[in-house]
Amino acid sequence: MVKITIDGREFEAKEKAKVRDVAKDHNIYIPTLCAHESVSPAGTCRLCLVETTNKEGRNKVMPSCLSVVEEGLAVLTNSEKVISERKVAMQKLLARAPESVSLKALAKKLGVESTPFPVEGHHNCVLCGLCTRVCQEVVGVNAISKINRSTEPNAVPYAVNFDGCIACGSCAYICPMDAITLMDAGDTRTITWPYQKKEFKLAKCKVCGRYWLPEKQIEYMAKKSGRPMEFFDTCLDCRR
Ligand code: FES
Repeated sequence: MVKITIDGREFEAKEKAKVRDVAKDHNIYIPTLCAHESVSPAGTCRLCLVETTNKEGRNKVMPSCLSVVEEGLAVLTNSEKVISERKVAMQKLLARAPESVSLKALAKKLGVESTPFPVEGHHNCVLCGLCTRVCQEVVGVNAISKINRSTEPNAVPYAVNFDGCIACGSCAYICPMDAITLMDAGDTRTITWPYQKKEFKLAKCKVCGRYWLPEKQIEYMAKKSGRPMEFFDTCLDCRR
């Protein structure tokens, strides 16, 4: 364990813990957008900035989701530097997704009402990368490509490999911006990504007749688990 302070209060933290996680464990609010407990941190949104000073007096402002604790580290979550840099980070996000209701609400909470930066995006994606990370790290199919940071109007923020995608919807679930949506209707699941859309066939439960999982997801699960395809003929409710 190591001892650190956050806003003057002393805490014990596990070695190698991230500052943001320690703060969260002690109910200290640090805004975040690109972090999620299911995936590794990436530090892309920069809303979780904190100011840290180590034992040797080295001072820096960096994302708390990436900042690792060390003995004697002093953390400030709301210093002048932090507030000012966090504001710029939020203004940049707003330029990416100026119409996003959820982003505007978070911006307001941080005292940001508008952006001086030129509007870059015409969709709600702020390139947080949660979709690419969940697809790669949790689902394991890697169907969403690395982020495209082009500021060209209508540039696709990331490409989806439709052959690799199993339609599980994890990207839509984790997206904090509602930039990815999922809709099930009859035997079809439709997933919409910025400037990209794809329909997937859903499989029917042989007992209740409900469409319950995408066929491609079943194929993937059968392959991964080594179970026969027939094992997935029945939905979870009917299996109980
Ligand atoms: S939550 Fe840390 S940079 Fe986005």
